[in-house]
Amino acid sequence: MTGSRRARVRDLTSEDLGWVADQEKAIFGMSAWSPELIATDFASGFRRYRGLELDGALAGYAVYGFDGDAFHLMNVALASGARGEGHSHILMEDFLAEARRLGVAEVWLEVAVTNDAALALYRSHGFEDVRVRRRYYQPEGIDALVMRLRVTAASPTDRA
Ligand SMILES: CC(C)(COP(=O)(O)OP(=O)(O)OC[C@H]1O[C@@H](n2cnc3c(N)ncnc32)[C@H](O)[C@@H]1OP(=O)(O)O)[C@@H](O)C(=O)NCCC(=O)NCCS
Repeated sequence: MTGSRRARVRDLTSEDLGWVADQEKAIFGMSAWSPELIATDFASGFRRYRGLELDGALAGYAVYGFDGDAFHLMNVALASGARGEGHSHILMEDFLAEARRLGVAEVWLEVAVTNDAALALYRSHGFEDVRVRRRYYQPEGIDALVMRLRVTAASPTDRA
């Protein structure tokens, strides 16, 4: 169930990257993507950086794209004040609509085995457990669960 705030997903621009880097630090601490990594990744043109606005202000973001042949959700995150209202589903739907538009057969992601909210989110969208990567997240040494979703036909509500 999403809250009453007006939600919109848009492409992020280079001007938004400082906000993304601040969120990364606040949310992921020592595992955060650095501002330099974000800027390089964004400029590579191989990723889609999408932002969720609530009432006109950025409140979340998702990063996705191809990693080799695999269409991959690299990251999805909401600012702490935007959680618990179901807004994460909007970013997931945006990602999955893009996967369907591109006609990919599968989408992939990694998630910390300790991340209950993200695990619940991904499972609610049909992602299945594939394997565990031991000590994938450093420096904490937390295991990652690799998850996959087999993509089905386009929904009529997908973006053009
Ligand atoms: C992961 C994240 C985007 C989810 O957003 P959220 O606002 O917290 O979660 P939502 O309110 O949208 O709920 C999503 C689902 O997770 C469930 N959920 C939320 N928090 C949960 C928790 N602590 N334990 C178990 N389930 C939880 C909700 O019930 C909901 O399920 P449903 O709608 O299918 O019934 C958000 O928690 C976040 O930004 N976390 C920090 C960044 C992060 O870890 N990103 C993932 C990187 S892999």
